[in-house]
Amino acid sequence: MPHAQLPWDTLFVHADIATMAHGRYNIIKDGAIGVSNGKIQWIGPYEKLQTDRTIAHEVINCKDQWILPGFVDCHTHLIWAGSRSNEFEMRLSGARYEQIAKQGGGIAATVKAVRDASADRLFTIASQRISHFLSRGTTCVEIKSGYGLDLENELKMLAVADRLNQQFPLHICPTFLGAHALPPEYKGRTDDYVDLIINTMLPGIKHQGIASAVDVFCESIAFSLAQTKRLFTAATDMGLPVKLHAEQLSDSGGAALAAQFNALSCDHLEYLSLDGVKAMAHAGVTAVLLPGAYYMLKQTRIPPVRDLIRLDVPMALATDLNPGTSPVYDMAAVMNMGCVLFGLTCEQALAGATINGAKALGLGNCKGSLETGKDADFVVWDIDSPADLSYQMGICCVNKVVITGKIAYNT
Ligand code: NIG
Ligand code: FE
Repeated sequence: MPHAQLPWDTLFVHADIATMAHGRYNIIKDGAIGVSNGKIQWIGPYEKLQTDRTIAHEVINCKDQWILPGFVDCHTHLIWAGSRSNEFEMRLSGARYEQIAKQGGGIAATVKAVRDASADRLFTIASQRISHFLSRGTTCVEIKSGYGLDLENELKMLAVADRLNQQFPLHICPTFLGAHALPPEYKGRTDDYVDLIINTMLPGIKHQGIASAVDVFCESIAFSLAQTKRLFTAATDMGLPVKLHAEQLSDSGGAALAAQFNALSCDHLEYLSLDGVKAMAHAGVTAVLLPGAYYMLKQTRIPPVRDLIRLDVPMALATDLNPGTSPVYDMAAVMNMGCVLFGLTCEQALAGATINGAKALGLGNCKGSLETGKDADFVVWDIDSPADLSYQMGICCVNKVVITGKIAYNT
């Protein structure tokens, strides 16, 4: 095998590696990874390396450790102010999420807190969350707006996401979610708010080049199928890819609509119908499962995982980190929930947290698996087997996090 551009910047040796290429472990025992210019230049068994000359500036010995792709968390609402632990307590006493939302709590409560917070304050809070992510092995994260709900505050959130992207080594994908909820000033006028998004907010966001996708919450407590269609038409006309919060609390037919627009992903999907699965399979849409929200809302109906597997729909897992339904920071915990609550295998859970998360962001060709030419984003773990990540709870076994070839976190 050729050793392109010798010497490499860094060579990681003696690790057991699960590459996750094509969504499988693809284990390399006693492997090596050569990294230069932020990319994987070489990956394979250590014994296949020509070690009789200097082939890297730095060699890192990872004996008794595993190297796995960094987690790609493809669905988060990471930027917010305030807390909604009071709603958690209300739900524990029997209140329902929809009920709390209708009474002006829920997303609306966070919208008020975000509108009241300065960009600097949001950046400070969000920085702490990003640091938590990094220390738990996440190397790429999607962040949605959706707690501003007017152009000024949506732009404020997206600018904070951009600043996080500049100041942290993690790769951040910003998503515009103006259609997350109805802002209070538009009460009873949902179509007028949809007009505002289409005529004012989307052009402003497009003009600033500050979002890489557009998301909608399609649900009885949020936006209808017809409104979602109008929003998707406007977004795709502007060349922005779409994705959808679909079939979380009811079957609204959102997944089939998203498939018509070649959405990157449909997310949640507890109430997804077989027709919806077929439409997603046909259009190549990734299913993003969010077991943290399912768990926190004590839902009882799980997404149609068997049908998704049978029809070969890639399944990603994400934290859905948000103050209402999923205050969850740890992808390993999400993998555990994916296995225990949704019936995934440990291998499917790891594929969901890595390569399929990358697919959900349209980054499947450069992130999510360890293959020559891809970004050198990976984690060195103190574990005995990749299944340990899904199996254990409450322990973090990260040893090092490497992002584009550089050590971004070291224990
Ligand atoms: O993904 N479903 C809509 N959005 C979030 C919840 C946001 C919130 O409650 O603040 C979700 O679960
Ligand atoms: Fe969400």
